[in-house]
Amino acid sequence: MRIVVLVSGSGSNLQAVIDAERAGQLPIEVAAVGADRHGTYGVERSAAAGIDTFVVNFGDYADRRDWDDALRQKAASYRPDLVLSSGFMRIVDERFIKRFEGRYINTHPALLPSFPGAHGVRDALAYGVKVTGATVMVADAGVDTGPILAQAPVAVLDDDTEATLHERIKVEERRLLIETLAELSRKY
Ligand code: GRF
Repeated sequence: MRIVVLVSGSGSNLQAVIDAERAGQLPIEVAAVGADRHGTYGVERSAAAGIDTFVVNFGDYADRRDWDDALRQKAASYRPDLVLSSGFMRIVDERFIKRFEGRYINTHPALLPSFPGAHGVRDALAYGVKVTGATVMVADAGVDTGPILAQAPVAVLDDDTEATLHERIKVEERRLLIETLAELSRKY
């Protein structure tokens, strides 16, 4: 199963996928890693691992539609079976969703449909929930609204900060992501 991974940040979840693949635990090929901005550690670590990388820099496009065109075409050029959003902090348009219908996978650091959006961990803490968690889903054109593939709970501790809670959630997020990719890979 060929995958293209999109990142906006450090790509620690992506690293877990690369490690699992290199350890022979995941029958996938990371065909390329792309970012929406320059200077991400996700792209840096992928290049260091010998993986093809690309940047479709959001700031370079005056028209949002042109950025979407460029991203879709670049991702499609690698002929992926699956596109994985791994901490990719941009919503893509309907044409991207259509092009990779049911094959664009995302993760979220909360138990959807609770706490969607860019601050899932912070919002769960602020609300005062005692349990939050991680979700892997098929991405659609909404914000964290696609069909859910897997979820895992994480207890919120009294002294948690956004950072400590997010780290524990990411442990579950990575485990779920790898399990889900392994399951999906059986289809290809
Ligand atoms: C993950 O928790 C993801 O769900 C969220 O940002 C985090 C990505 O971290 N949107 P990293 O870039 O994989 O380290």
